[in-house]
Amino acid sequence: MSRIVFVNGEYLPEAEAKISIFDRGFLMADGVYEVTSVLDGKLIDFAGHTKRLQRSLDELEMRAYCDMDELLAIHRELVDLNEINEGLVYLQVTRGAPNDRDFVFPDPETTPPTMVLFTQNIPNLADSAASKKGNKIISIEDLRWHRRDIKTVQLLYPSMGKMIAKKAGADDAWLVEDGMVTEGTSNNAYIVKGNKIITRQLSNDILHGITRAAVLRFAREAQMVVEERSFSMDEAKEADEAFTTSASAFVMPVIEVDGVMLGDGTPGPIAKRLREIYLEESRKTAI
Ligand code: PDD
Repeated sequence: MSRIVFVNGEYLPEAEAKISIFDRGFLMADGVYEVTSVLDGKLIDFAGHTKRLQRSLDELEMRAYCDMDELLAIHRELVDLNEINEGLVYLQVTRGAPNDRDFVFPDPETTPPTMVLFTQNIPNLADSAASKKGNKIISIEDLRWHRRDIKTVQLLYPSMGKMIAKKAGADDAWLVEDGMVTEGTSNNAYIVKGNKIITRQLSNDILHGITRAAVLRFAREAQMVVEERSFSMDEAKEADEAFTTSASAFVMPVIEVDGVMLGDGTPGPIAKRLREIYLEESRKTAI
């Protein structure tokens, strides 16, 4: 089924949606994005995603396409038009399309930002087969730039990371810098040892995951112990269990790291519990 997508103020069939070849998102990866999940036709953690979008724009001195309030209406319209019950809404804002290629930023007065949104229909997002099986992870060097807190569309290295993992027979990669795990290619990374949930502290080294914030809050509310600090792959191999979080996969159990099976090689009890709590609580506050 052809989707209706949003491009610069218009709702169009996907085949009719067009962006200039001079768009800086296309030429320079000069753009930021957000991915918001949809459950029961409603948006999950929407306020967090718009807040982070505004921060990404501010950090890059980029103008927003519209008020953050208007974004909710656009998201809802696309969810309705495309009859999404479970899935994702992808949003991208770029520095727009000047009339030539130039490293210098264009004047925002004459070059307005570009904004594109589209939906992805994923009927089994909450009940995915992968979440029941758990992921196998390998580690690779983190070769990304040093402003990973900004959600830019520079996704070539994360994309290569996933391909390296797939070629190695794994599902995804964790990125390692100075001997410590930063995060996954498109998710935040956690290990569990004893009763402790360990995940890297917030800094410019990782994306400040919206799912991470919610999951850590729910974990603390459930009296679980959370330690926000770096960990190494050696520590991960000794962990009782592990998992990742993201808007596109919620809490995803990890069953193997660099060829070492964790626990009995099935999703661990804490990851499973946190996934249940996250889904239950997020559905309640979805808008
Ligand atoms: N990725 N770290 C990285 C590098 C990510 O790309 C993402 C999200 C996360 C998790 O953030 P959040 O919980 O806000 O989704 C962490 C999205 C889903 C993507 O690129 O598709």
